[in-house]
Amino acid sequence: MSEAPERNLALDIVRITEAAALASARWLGRGDKVAGDQAAVQAMRVGFSTLNIDGTVIIGEGEKDDAPMLANGEKVGRGEGLALDVAVDPVEGTSLLAYGRPNAISVIAVSPQGSMFNPGPSFYMQKLVVGQEARDVVDIDAPIKVNLKNIAKALGKSVQDLVVFVLDKPRHQRLIGEIREAGARIQLQTDGDVIGALMAVDPHSEVDVMLGTGGSPEGVLSACAIKGLGGQILARLDPQSYVEKEAINEAGVDLREVLTVDNLVRGEDCFFAATGISGGDFLHGVRYSARYAVTHSLVLRGKTGTLRYVESYHNMDKLSKFSAVQY
Ligand code: FBP
Repeated sequence: MSEAPERNLALDIVRITEAAALASARWLGRGDKVAGDQAAVQAMRVGFSTLNIDGTVIIGEGEKDDAPMLANGEKVGRGEGLALDVAVDPVEGTSLLAYGRPNAISVIAVSPQGSMFNPGPSFYMQKLVVGQEARDVVDIDAPIKVNLKNIAKALGKSVQDLVVFVLDKPRHQRLIGEIREAGARIQLQTDGDVIGALMAVDPHSEVDVMLGTGGSPEGVLSACAIKGLGGQILARLDPQSYVEKEAINEAGVDLREVLTVDNLVRGEDCFFAATGISGGDFLHGVRYSARYAVTHSLVLRGKTGTLRYVESYHNMDKLSKFSAVQY
């Protein structure tokens, strides 16, 4: 049945990730993780207060590292209109921003109420992310070399051509060894596995796969984008401490369960936006000229799969006269 075009909420939320990026980019390289995050959180709060939605934050930021948060359960939006689950990461990669490293981004995803996986007490998740061509050939329980061989075949490449994104963490020493042994190339980044997942599914990027353990909230956020681009995420809760493991067990969650993109976000009706804060090859950081601040964002709609790259020119003189957010 044919339908008339509906409102694309991704075009609403990208204004908010832009505002958060503009507010936090002033903290680039200033060594203050909390201040950069706080600036982005405040900008997001103001942005959401303009939206005609009845949003509930399912994925908030901060519990793992005591950052200023848009807390889980917090209501956002004007309380009218669509009832939505909301996932936010005002600054994904707070250390990247604080130390002036590339790939800090601001991220929001929304989907109908009740459709987002709630990681509850889980902080960490093992993830395998690939784009559309390889979505049906991956198995989180298969040896790394088997997955890489199958992914390479699906992409029409050899394993030596593949680039695997991995967070550079001590817990990944063995994984990195196995990838090297299989013969694939690796892009190691200190932080930021949402952008790692985005690069793995976006055909414009040189990254073919993301592997390893990162934040559980980041896994749900990434799933909204992966869905829009037709890729796959296979994930499993992967507690990194006894306390985390006990809390998950107490919540009655099965640590063996494999979660797919469809478990992490149910249905196709999800929207995702990310704006670069610190510069990177994939999303450019906020750039300032005499008159404008320029932002670069990625905008996705799950149902249609439309991917937009948005470059916006923000007139700082005009904005400074009336904006409730300090840029
Ligand atoms: P923050 O923005 O909260 O600092 O998260 C950055 C990040 O690298 C995520 O991208 C990733 O999922 C998570 O931290 C990994 O956690 P950890 O640094 O504790 O290994």
